Amino acid sequence: MKDSPILLIGKTAKTGLRVDQRLRALGYSTRGVSRSSSPAFDWEDASSWRAALEGTESAYVTFYPDLAIPAAEDTIRAFIALAKDVGLQHLVLLSGRGEQGAESAESVLMNSGLDWNVVRANWFMQNFSEGFMIEGIVEGELMLPAGDIVEPFIDIDDIADVAVATLTRPELRNRLFEVSGPRAMTFTQCVAEISEAVGYPVKFTQISIEEFLYALRDQGLPEEMLWLMNELFTVVFDGRNSNPTTGVEEALGRPATDFSEYLRKVTATGAWHRSGLLQQA
Ligand SMILES: NC(=O)c1ccc[n+]([C@@H]2O[C@H](COP(=O)([O-])OP(=O)(O)OC[C@H]3O[C@@H](n4cnc5c(N)ncnc54)[C@H](OP(=O)(O)O)[C@@H]3O)[C@@H](O)[C@H]2O)c1
Repeated sequence: MKDSPILLIGKTAKTGLRVDQRLRALGYSTRGVSRSSSPAFDWEDASSWRAALEGTESAYVTFYPDLAIPAAEDTIRAFIALAKDVGLQHLVLLSGRGEQGAESAESVLMNSGLDWNVVRANWFMQNFSEGFMIEGIVEGELMLPAGDIVEPFIDIDDIADVAVATLTRPELRNRLFEVSGPRAMTFTQCVAEISEAVGYPVKFTQISIEEFLYALRDQGLPEEMLWLMNELFTVVFDGRNSNPTTGVEEALGRPATDFSEYLRKVTATGAWHRSGLLQQA
């Protein structure tokens, strides 16, 4: 099994990078692909898929931008059909919790005849430090169309550990792991804890979905991403994902990482450091 490379789709993605590091440390060879790899892999260009798949037996797949988008189900169906044709045996799919589109794509995989795993995740903690929210944190005010809904944010180091477990332990195959952090928190709570950890003031401000989308449109975000943001904040983020799940423990036999440990790791990297601004705070 260690002979053929494990395919990682989204090699520069937040989870893809971490899965890659862990597999290599265990002695597995990997083939990480995305639009910037050589050869390139592009979800929007099906002719780029075969070269990535050839010679692989297992794959960790992250779809971009999100399995919630209407086109995702058909794209995943076409990709899986090709993967079977080329000889893939096992596919691990990163999915989003509470997303109807994602569940349709998951069903395609579960009914495909391939060995499968689904890692269905809550919002990533790392959205605060590696994603679209980092700017607001460093600038001292995070503005989002979210109120008192609680979310058990997940540390993506846990997602990577679960993905690696499913890729390397055959007894875990053909199972869905619904993964979250241990604590359901509002954005206000998260930002307060971040502010305490970084040592400068950061506040959370609730804005309307219209204001949010207007600002994103102004920044030049494409229509598909605007649709996605609207879907995430008005449909998915309605409280349906509030209860913490047991997926991390089921896969790994240990509890999920708490937000406080995530804060300790990020502050050690300096990701939220405001050069020149820290002294003024
Ligand atoms: N963020 C969350 O809270 C969250 C929660 C649950 C599930 N998820 C899922 O996690 C996945 C990644 O989400 P993310 O926003 O966190 O992404 P991300 O880590 O920022 O990664 C984006 C990756 O996608 C690649 N990419 C972009 N466009 C592509 C295309 N057309 N074809 C192939 N690769 C492409 C990029 O590399 P190149 O630029 O080199 O192509 C990069 O490796 C999504 O499927 C999402 O549904 C996210």
